[in-house]
Amino acid sequence: MRIETRFAWILAFCFCLGVTVAGLISWRLETAHARDDVHQRAKMLLGAGLAVRSYTVANVAPVLDKIDDGSFHPAQVPSFAAQQTLKLLSASFPEYRYRESSLNPTNIADRATDWEVGLLRQFDQDPGLHELFGRTRVGGHEVYYLARPIRMTSAACLRCHGDPASAPRAMLAKYGSSNGFGWHMGQLVGLQLAEVPTAPAEAKAWSSVLVTVGALTSVFVLSAVVFLLLLHRHVTNPLDALTRAALASSLDQGGCERLPAIEGQFGQLQEAIERLRQSVDLAMKRRSRGA
Ligand code: HEC
Repeated sequence: MRIETRFAWILAFCFCLGVTVAGLISWRLETAHARDDVHQRAKMLLGAGLAVRSYTVANVAPVLDKIDDGSFHPAQVPSFAAQQTLKLLSASFPEYRYRESSLNPTNIADRATDWEVGLLRQFDQDPGLHELFGRTRVGGHEVYYLARPIRMTSAACLRCHGDPASAPRAMLAKYGSSNGFGWHMGQLVGLQLAEVPTAPAEAKAWSSVLVTVGALTSVFVLSAVVFLLLLHRHVTNPLDALTRAALASSLDQGGCERLPAIEGQFGQLQEAIERLRQSVDLAMKRRSRGA
């Protein structure tokens, strides 16, 4: 096997090993980064829901409360404000979803689905549990979800969720008195749920891995080609010429093949062979003269 071929195989083996290790490391880093990215997005969405809730409690409810026109303004309801605002956001980001659901909801549309009931149960069983996250499928797409419990921590909420008798009449007229009441302080009353798509972050992670592997491959192929060409030009080519010359000389085919001057170590080897050939010639002549 020629030296170039041998080197090419060794380099290819090292490359495959190197690229596999680098690809794996890059894949691990990028997928961890993608996971972190979707988690941060889900956190942002939940944070936005919380912010709207707080804004409504602090700025909208006190103003609307003062309007005593006998009607009920859902805009003063923190849950309504958060869900409606983030629904508007979903118009631009359809795969992002924010929801507040409960086992005993005021608005039937907020009734917890079977899957959400499972999350609520976990929060109920472990009062120290502050969030749950993971992946699930919604409408054929994989989404990342982040859920946080809503516990009754403010007595102000009980005005509308405690005893129906003390709830605003207009609210009862709109929502009825059979759902969303009887909640008490400290109780787990619902959950905040944010869903964000995983596909874009994963696609980004894969393309980064491909860029890393692609860049490594290009650098390697280029370096290997340059290396093999240099090896051919400076090592195997002179070596071939020397071998041919040494062979011709040993067979005495008209003396040593005249080689172009070779520089460096091969040049020294060439000189050594030439000297050796001359010594052998001399010795042979002396011997034939003596005979
Ligand atoms: C002025 C009355 C009012 C107050 C005060 C109020 N809520 Fe509500 N709440 C409602 C109404 C009405 C809905 C249904 C809104 C809708 O149509 O989506 C609701 C919905 C909810 C929901 C979603 C599930 C459901 O019942 O539909 C949760 C959870 C919730 N409220 C928790 C709270 C908490 C916690 C507080 C205190 C920070 C609070 N609410 C204060 C009236 C109120």
